[in-house]
Amino acid sequence: MSNPVEQKIIALREQIKQHNKNYYTYDKPVITDSEYDRLLGQLKQLENDYPQFLTTDSPSQKVGGTVLDKFIKVQHEVPMLSLDNVFNSEDLADFVERVNKRLSLTTELTFCAEPKLDGLAISLLYQKGYLIRAATRGDGNIGEDVTNNVKTIQNIPHILTGKNIPDVIEIRGEVVMPMDAFKQYNLIAAKNGDKCFVNPRNAAAGSLRQLDSKITANRPLAFYSYGIGLIKNADLPNSHYQRLLQLKQWGLPVTNEIKIKTGLQGCLDYYQFLLAARDTLPYEIDGIVYKVDDISLQQQLGFISRAPRWAIAHKFPAQEEQTRLLDVEFQVGRTGAITPVAILEPVFVGGVNISRASLHNNDEIQRLGIKIGDTVVVRRAADVIPQISGSLSEHSPSAKPIIFPTHCPVCHSEIERIEGEAVARCSGGLYCAAQRKEAIQYFASRKAMNIDGLGEKVVDLLVDENLINTPADLFLLKAEQLIGLDRMGPKKAENIINAINKSKKTSFAKFLLALGIREVGEATARNLAEHFLTLDALKKANIDDLQEVDDVGEIVAKHVQYFFRQAHNLEVIDALLEAGVQWPILQAKQQHTLPLANKTYVLTGTLSKMKRSEAKASLQALGAKVSGSVSSKTDTVVAGEAAGSKLIKAQDLKINIINEDELIALLELYSK
Ligand code: IVH
Repeated sequence: MSNPVEQKIIALREQIKQHNKNYYTYDKPVITDSEYDRLLGQLKQLENDYPQFLTTDSPSQKVGGTVLDKFIKVQHEVPMLSLDNVFNSEDLADFVERVNKRLSLTTELTFCAEPKLDGLAISLLYQKGYLIRAATRGDGNIGEDVTNNVKTIQNIPHILTGKNIPDVIEIRGEVVMPMDAFKQYNLIAAKNGDKCFVNPRNAAAGSLRQLDSKITANRPLAFYSYGIGLIKNADLPNSHYQRLLQLKQWGLPVTNEIKIKTGLQGCLDYYQFLLAARDTLPYEIDGIVYKVDDISLQQQLGFISRAPRWAIAHKFPAQEEQTRLLDVEFQVGRTGAITPVAILEPVFVGGVNISRASLHNNDEIQRLGIKIGDTVVVRRAADVIPQISGSLSEHSPSAKPIIFPTHCPVCHSEIERIEGEAVARCSGGLYCAAQRKEAIQYFASRKAMNIDGLGEKVVDLLVDENLINTPADLFLLKAEQLIGLDRMGPKKAENIINAINKSKKTSFAKFLLALGIREVGEATARNLAEHFLTLDALKKANIDDLQEVDDVGEIVAKHVQYFFRQAHNLEVIDALLEAGVQWPILQAKQQHTLPLANKTYVLTGTLSKMKRSEAKASLQALGAKVSGSVSSKTDTVVAGEAAGSKLIKAQDLKINIINEDELIALLELYSK
């Protein structure tokens, strides 16, 4: 065996056989479908050019994979075949011409055009209308018995209904995981830290080929019929299309998109129609199947090796390709959100070259389980941003983990990640170059420092011209620096400088709001100002102190603390004060007219009759402080179900303890 072509053919066959096994037998493909199609196309081309090397055991002559031992084997009386593919209209034209010639037709052929569903083929055997067996395709002759699993699929009838039901009928079709269900499944899996499916096809195959039917039952699968296998004692129409409609009458699901089309042009029109509708369909499709509609013509045409002569699959451009993950960059958005971005070896997917793809956040990286150097699957549905949908094969030994930074790549402030929130953010809001424009615009806005004339456009201009880097720089600007900027005359420049100077006299609340601390809106800024009275007191506050403020929960408290922990933010604040920003000194509010004034409460354990936030708000409305921790300053601890360490501490300190009912009684007493 010295011929290099033969060697190449043998190598390709080995490769394809291994990929068949990975895909069909183990539901674990290690290459994308388009890569597989390329390999198979290469093999077929070589076998076509060098027919002396064609053998019957070539994967080009065979269907699918082998069956798994864990399932009972089923012999298909009528083999379950595959389809030949075309990828462009020329090859489709060749197919139509071939069929016409073979049938010596002078009129145009009628085709039944159908979506090519991307799932897995199964066969359902009905006897006297009862579903008695369901099997996977397997190698086309022997499949796997998956009856119990199939019976859990909602839209498969266990009993056929209607008239003229055949004694025996085998329905062929595709099991899919509908798009919505697939997305939902992955969302929940990601939340629970479970493994996600790379694509709906894999999801369907993985879900159906389970030994435990309970697992299949929990997976949202659906079935659509596209043909008939074995049939006994039946009187069926001579049109494939009409037969599918008959199946529908018996209660079997058939897709809504099947259509009758005439000639090549009819097929091409349908292709355009379905390609445009692709992303709106409830299921994923990877092309069209055109079938000669006339059953007697189908019989005349017959089969070659693994596929019928009367049908062809016209594949859509791939939405998935594989490539290498070269690196991950971390971008900082205008609001400080940190987004990991995959840097990819350029790859052509869905009609465009892709070299970068968003990885969204750290959860997504964990979910995908990818490392730098891995081969990843890039998916790009039409008009949708490219995504990495998974990785193929194992990590190579040189693969490097993706490390999420702890500090902002732009300004080196701490990256803040609040538990339960997917997005991580830079906490150097006042200083970070990436957030500059947003921060200064917000600072100048009406509800904050209210600097007239300093709108979005002017701020952009000032930053782009390097005249300001932080809000504090605004107060150092001179009118001369502004004159000459785009559409900026002396009068306008003067007005802006005056407005900046005027804004120096503000209130503590507005100043706090202007800092742009995450989750601190007008009401919270006011509450913080009234509670702490001075900036120094606020800066020193710990999480518990912060939570004593009305409407401030743990998350807001953390944001505030993070913000004031960044040296750069403090520098900008000092510069603002230095520049003359000031506000009237606040006096503590007299609260002792309220019944619980000067009393400190701590809520602990689970409350069953009201939310903790409601209890907190009600107590605060009566003048009480509500603290997060028990100390000698605590007056009363409200202990709900399963209260723990705080209750113990309260008992140690001999603090007054009440339960939920007593709290309700207290609140009722004072609300009268
Ligand atoms: S007809 C003898 N129709 O595509 C005819 N197949 O690549 C065989 N498929 O094994 C199949 N949608 O799993 C047919 N409307 C459709 C289809 C379809 C999806 C799958 C099926 C088949 C594979 C061949």
